[in-house]
Amino acid sequence: MMETILSKRSVPPVRPLPEFVPSSRKRADFVQDIFDHTAHHYDALSAALSFGTCRAYRRFALRRAGLTPGMKLLDVATGTGLVARAAMQIGIPCDDIIGLDLSRGMLNQNHKRHSIPLVQGFGEALPFEDESFDFITLGYALRHADDLVELFTEFRRVLRRNGRVLILEISRPASRLGVGVGRFYFCSVLANLTRVFTRNADTPKLLRFYWKTIEECVPPPVILEALEASGLREAKRHTMGSLLNDYMACRAE
Ligand SMILES: C[S@@+](CC[C@H](N)C(=O)[O-])C[C@H]1O[C@@H](n2cnc3c(N)ncnc32)[C@H](O)[C@@H]1O
Repeated sequence: MMETILSKRSVPPVRPLPEFVPSSRKRADFVQDIFDHTAHHYDALSAALSFGTCRAYRRFALRRAGLTPGMKLLDVATGTGLVARAAMQIGIPCDDIIGLDLSRGMLNQNHKRHSIPLVQGFGEALPFEDESFDFITLGYALRHADDLVELFTEFRRVLRRNGRVLILEISRPASRLGVGVGRFYFCSVLANLTRVFTRNADTPKLLRFYWKTIEECVPPPVILEALEASGLREAKRHTMGSLLNDYMACRAE
């Protein structure tokens, strides 16, 4: 498998999804639009999806990955800033955090809540100099990238030596029952509830898209191999109930 990835140098995390993104459209444009249109509801949706545990889990994962005050953090796909806020709660000052996201709507919500520097941009083309950060986080956005090797190679470029990457992601449940329950919860229960409570036709669409990308995402070993293929080292995964995964890797040289 490693050889396949290294020789291909391209690992799309999810196959094309024409039911959401027609072939005439770039996936990034679709992603940007859907998050722009639902940004206002994102924090509530995130809490509902995680049964209220999302904030504590982010803090726990950051601590376990070794984020400590004094490090300069880049939060890629920062969204409304849930990962950045968890970093602040464990003592990282606002001035040592930069949030980057492609969605202006998500950045606007972030700006209302926090005072960290924010940059609109793509994770795959970071507007920063080489070796600028000690720590990079990517929370629940891996599935939206076009190519994991391109994304992680860019992470390696802007990391300092011994810098670390932490990626939080949801994986497809291992059992068919789990897949069925997840699909029902995201695409029926939550999609219908949000249609009523948000009166926004894009929130059920976001939830269906979100679930589809979870179902179709490459499995954890491929993510670990893509990290190593990008020149990062010591790639490893922690998992909670196979659904919640965090991946860590570091820049050795
Ligand atoms: C599910 S939200 C996650 C937000 C935040 N990281 C969190 O943990 O709650 C996904 C975010 O990724 C952003 N995003 C998706 N693809 C991106 C890319 N290629 N570059 C930068 N941001 C991206 C979206 O705009 C959205 O704000």
